[in-house]
Amino acid sequence: MNRKFLKLVFSILAGCTFSLSTVTAQQQTTLQAEEHRPQFHFSPKEHWMNDPNGMVYYKGVYHLFYQYYPNGTVWGPMHWGHATTKDFFHWQEKPIALYPDSLGYIFSGSIVMDEHNTSGLGKDGKAPMVAVFTHHDPKLEEKKVNNFQNQSIAYSLDEGNSWTKYSGNPVLPNPGITDFRDPKVMWFEAGKKWIMTLATKDRITFYSSKDLKDWRKESEFGNDLGAHGGVWECPDLFPMEYNGKTVWVLLVSINPGGPNGGSATQYFTGSFDGSKFTANSKVEKWLDYGTDNYAGITWSNTGKRKIFIGWMNNWQYANRVPTKNWRGATTIPRDLYLDQKAGDFYVRSVPVKEMNVHLRPVYKKQSLMLNKGIDLSAYVKNLNGKLKLDFTFNTTKSNQIVLSNKEGEKLLVGYDHKTKTYYIDRANSGINDFEKGFAKKHTAPRIATATTARISLILDVASAELFADDGLTVMTDIFFPKSLINGIKITGNGNQKINNLIISAIPSFK
Ligand code: FRU
Repeated sequence: MNRKFLKLVFSILAGCTFSLSTVTAQQQTTLQAEEHRPQFHFSPKEHWMNDPNGMVYYKGVYHLFYQYYPNGTVWGPMHWGHATTKDFFHWQEKPIALYPDSLGYIFSGSIVMDEHNTSGLGKDGKAPMVAVFTHHDPKLEEKKVNNFQNQSIAYSLDEGNSWTKYSGNPVLPNPGITDFRDPKVMWFEAGKKWIMTLATKDRITFYSSKDLKDWRKESEFGNDLGAHGGVWECPDLFPMEYNGKTVWVLLVSINPGGPNGGSATQYFTGSFDGSKFTANSKVEKWLDYGTDNYAGITWSNTGKRKIFIGWMNNWQYANRVPTKNWRGATTIPRDLYLDQKAGDFYVRSVPVKEMNVHLRPVYKKQSLMLNKGIDLSAYVKNLNGKLKLDFTFNTTKSNQIVLSNKEGEKLLVGYDHKTKTYYIDRANSGINDFEKGFAKKHTAPRIATATTARISLILDVASAELFADDGLTVMTDIFFPKSLINGIKITGNGNQKINNLIISAIPSFK
């Protein structure tokens, strides 16, 4: 994040007052009508959000906390907002979980269930939910001292409804590193200890603790590996399995320096011995090649299932996107899997399986000749800018999906067989005057090698998420059409077929 710019915007807007009003039933119904409002992705009813934080699963409920500024629609003093869901589609907004205090704003972090009460913060046999987050002190930052970011904890004994900050904060004071933030904590069973994965400027530093309060440094990783076009933020470390083998995955968000500009999330695969992470490949890997999936991490306490969610935005323009009463949304939650290609490990992401029950197929075709292009607008014109499109195709030829509206705006999504790349082109997709570099075509390499490719595209009013080859190549882009997408054509560059085509309607959850 460019803090100087944000400070400027913040100080201009500090003069305007935004009221934190309760959302009435009438406002609730208008959410459906709000221009550019996602209808099945999470977005706060009002005001600013950025990173998802502290996601934890407990007693059948998925908790999502997030960077939230409740007094405006641009980034400001950070709180943790809170929402819960049982199925990733029906979300319930809860009261703000953490407010800024004398130690600073509440920056990103994670939550663990301290089942064995290692922290001693539990009471009457109740295990505490412990939030580990960064305290960001704006006054110290102003003074240009280096230690303005420190790690602190808070705990909840009532399933995340109310929080108490630990009196001994910060638990991990800053050793003098300007960017020292976004702790992701996990239990490392083999060593019976907690591991904190922390973003420390241009690298990751691992710490360990027996009680979540007393932390010691274990090792550093990555100053000489991976992409370094910007500062490292919001890491996540977790084990995954592939054919009975354990491979560790380390997610690292970077801003700027993403493959298509601005913010993006890279990842490393390798091993972790409780102290040190060792990468098993030097290949640069991105969880998502689009411009709008940032600062994502996985839910904790979900066992072997790994569920990821990201912030569907980019620091390059996040503060200026043309939404009115709110700014920011999350990606569709994604199940992560491990895959092996050309001897290297890759992470596949696909929409959570809970999505399937909501899909209502409106058109199915086993096999379709593209000829000069096939117009399927009749099937999407009443879908209110939301749909899922699936098909398979032969990668020896190119194809393009043209999504359009009555203004003649177009979002192009496709595959180029010459360059072996997928792309999303939002150059003529709608409003783009808020950011010079917004109207662009973004590309992503095809990682899969089979001749048959499979794509899934999810559209939710103002976002497109492309999952190619079962999530081996993923692109998430936001766009701002002046009216809802109501047309679709699929074109090709020859006499070619696409197969297993399904267009599905998706309900609104607003
Ligand atoms: C990532 C980030 C984090 C930080 C938070 C502040 O988007 O910059 O590093 O904790 O946002 O809101």
